[in-house]
Amino acid sequence: MNDLIESAWQLLEKSIISYQGRPVGTLAACNSEDTGLNYDQCFTRDFAVSAIAFLLRGQTDIVRNFLCTTLELQSCQKQMDCFTPGQGLMPASFKITCDEGEEGLGADFGERAIARVAPVDSGFWWLLILRAYVKASDDLDLARKPEFQKGIKLILDLCLTARFAMLPTLLVPDGSFTIDRRMGVYGHPLDVQTLFYLALRSAKELLAPEDDYIEVVNLRLGHLTYHLRTYYWLDFARLNEIYHYKVEQFGKDANNKFNIYPDTIPDWLSTWIPDTGGYLAGNLGPARIDFRWFAQGNLMAILGSLASEEQAQGIMNLIEQRSSDLLGQMPLKMCFPALKGRDWQVLTGSDAKNIPWSYHNSGSWPFLLWELAGAAIKTGHEELAQRAVEIAIQRLPQQDWPEYYDGQEGRLVGKEARKFQTWTIAGFLAAQELLENPQKVEIVCFAEDTGVKACST
Ligand code: GLC
Repeated sequence: MNDLIESAWQLLEKSIISYQGRPVGTLAACNSEDTGLNYDQCFTRDFAVSAIAFLLRGQTDIVRNFLCTTLELQSCQKQMDCFTPGQGLMPASFKITCDEGEEGLGADFGERAIARVAPVDSGFWWLLILRAYVKASDDLDLARKPEFQKGIKLILDLCLTARFAMLPTLLVPDGSFTIDRRMGVYGHPLDVQTLFYLALRSAKELLAPEDDYIEVVNLRLGHLTYHLRTYYWLDFARLNEIYHYKVEQFGKDANNKFNIYPDTIPDWLSTWIPDTGGYLAGNLGPARIDFRWFAQGNLMAILGSLASEEQAQGIMNLIEQRSSDLLGQMPLKMCFPALKGRDWQVLTGSDAKNIPWSYHNSGSWPFLLWELAGAAIKTGHEELAQRAVEIAIQRLPQQDWPEYYDGQEGRLVGKEARKFQTWTIAGFLAAQELLENPQKVEIVCFAEDTGVKACST
């Protein structure tokens, strides 16, 4: 086991890229035989996993350098031009360029990415990495530097300004986060809302205590907590309630506020949802609950204490009881169940990469192991995470650390999976470090926010 961990660390080190002589990030994948697309870039969301692994091991420099480098890339000009990244946006990825021997940085804000999606999550991950860095290194001075305070506020401006919305959640296009292709995850996807919440919690800790932004952040945190805990939560009792919903209710007292038609409850749900336990739904909008399970949103909601303590226990209980679906032969399913048939055609745009039980459409992604480990430690379910790591370790190194796995049980190496995918390696290492040193979980988690009042208006 020790040799295996050591060789995984060596692989992670191999993915490091340097700029002006300093390590500043990690490549998305490191397979010399396979050099297509943009896997030779450093992705902000992928680096978050590397950052956590490095921080848990006490390697703080590379994380600091990453934060300074990406801060320089943040889009800073106020834009009215639709083709230029909006002010405050953090890049989805960047690479080191070389022009006549001169090193430079090339950032991608989604303008070159497949399907041209702008990354809503990059700024959120950046804030989370900064907060984890400060926790691990005690270097609050970095976050308090004027340029960092400005960067934090630009991210907040970008997501707190009034738009075409009357909800505390963020309205986003399809594929604007980890799931960066069409998957019917437009609207108010849980994964984005959870990261938004965590980013606000991070910003609150990092801004100077007397800053005016704190009040606005607190207000939004209260509304977001209430909204997610109340309307996204699904368990057997709640399902019963939705099943009996009256529809077309007008006015403030409506109990079916979003006009959800009971007929939209999918067939699989009433047998799948256990008597005990529950989870946060994948999405909520007008006349729509997306009843699918999304791993990242649920696990990060536990880490951030966005889920109440009872809900956090409920989520872990559900994973336990449905482990053959959610952990299977390779933890963890990114979402469950797969979109099939007409749903797959309409919602993914007949995406051949996202066929049922593949890739984002219910494929299995081992990088999520660190989130499971963190959530398990926070809720006292370490044994579950230990089991997941043991399942993963049976195949990850032998199969060259694939990006993802396919099939209902996750037994097949993903059809188009890269090998030596950095966040697969880092996600495993971070999970391993966390399970060995559970007290270090404080780098990535938040206690219940007693300073805000969860309220609707
Ligand atoms: C894929 C994933 C995305 C990830 C990128 C690099 O595009 O969907 O979440 O950041 O690969 O690994």
